[in-house]
Amino acid sequence: MNHFIYRDKELYCENVPVRNIVQKIGTPLYIYSHATLKRHFKAFNDAFKGVNKLVCFSAKANTNLAILSLFSKLGGGLDIVSGGELYRGLKAGYASNKIVYSGVGKRIDEIDYALKMGILMFNVESMEELEIVDQRAGLLKKKAPVAIRVNPDVDPKTHPYISTGMKKNKFGINIEAAMEAYKVAAKLKNIKVIGLDCHIGSQITQTGPFKDALYILKTMIKDLAACKINIKYLDLGGGLGITYNDEEPPDPVEYANAIKEVIGDTKVKLIFEPGRVIVGNAGILVTKVLYRKSTGVKEFIIVDAGMNDLVRPTLYEAFHAIKPVVDSDNEEIKADIVGPICESGDFLALDRNIQKVEQGDLLAVMSSGAYGFVMSSNYCSRLKLAEVMVNGDKFQVARKRQKYEDLTRGEIIPDFL
Ligand code: LLP
Repeated sequence: MNHFIYRDKELYCENVPVRNIVQKIGTPLYIYSHATLKRHFKAFNDAFKGVNKLVCFSAKANTNLAILSLFSKLGGGLDIVSGGELYRGLKAGYASNKIVYSGVGKRIDEIDYALKMGILMFNVESMEELEIVDQRAGLLKKKAPVAIRVNPDVDPKTHPYISTGMKKNKFGINIEAAMEAYKVAAKLKNIKVIGLDCHIGSQITQTGPFKDALYILKTMIKDLAACKINIKYLDLGGGLGITYNDEEPPDPVEYANAIKEVIGDTKVKLIFEPGRVIVGNAGILVTKVLYRKSTGVKEFIIVDAGMNDLVRPTLYEAFHAIKPVVDSDNEEIKADIVGPICESGDFLALDRNIQKVEQGDLLAVMSSGAYGFVMSSNYCSRLKLAEVMVNGDKFQVARKRQKYEDLTRGEIIPDFL
């Protein structure tokens, strides 16, 4: 069930008219549907019913504490890529032994933090990192639980910026070098090899690339077993795509069936790191029309949200549907929907057919729950937005809108000036 629907030509989030939220909180703002978040998490989790698994929500997709806390309460684990995400995860209530740590550039202080907290697994992405993890674990008198992130050289058929599992990408250790890496790891005193990890990319809309990668990993688990290296956890990463426009990605059940088919009776605990598929379509960005203008060759709708609030259209030429919060039945025009930032790349949509709008009208930028607020910035000293969570006929602020004082917090004018 879609929880962002029109009733009497008015866009609702669950049982709350979006307009009511805007009246109280103002624009621009992010709105998340609790029912959708919960349904998506459960749909993914339940798709693997009966399978030994842990679903670790990929924090990077949306780190709001309210969202992290919800998935923790639903029994999930967490996939992190920084000390900051570890801090948030612990604050949101995750048991540290349900947290997996990926990323090519883990700093020593971050590694130490994760070792001290006792996370489930480091997904190690290079030999140099492996060495550092071993050293730090030794110093802290710990044994570091490690998986090696393998780069299987599989084309995920997605946007080049979010493809991660090909040789030309910076992620993981080459499949050819991975066996040797495991042999080295197995000999390190302060490392406990427990897993195998892989994440091939994001917004993947077919099951094929996942299956291709899994065949490779499955063979590798057998080869490792032959060398007496036993893999307990197989982390398959995230990457399942969603519908922004006309994509038809596999649903979680189809995805799960594809995985189950390949994995067969391999005796491992599966770890998943879904991000976008859980939160992407559970959130919208609501913005207000400030001005309209025409240059003779183009119509512009200038709104109060910009690339600093939602960078996906600018960065990836990503499509987000844009809908009027109140459906006016007006005729459609073709326009660029642009923000207030002083760059021509600051747009939410280009040459988009959209109902004629007026100053003060509200627009909803759909599918903004993943990689929305988390990628926002204070560029042009614009305030970071409020985030609101709706639950049935209630809503609550999950993050306050920044104030001007927040902008200069921590800044110091040196004495010598
Ligand atoms: N695990 C790892 C190791 C990852 O690098 C990622 C995403 C995920 C899991 C979650 O992937 P998901 O299920 O969300 O596809 N900012 C881009 C997406 C970047 C994805 C980075 N890694 C965007 O807005 O499309």
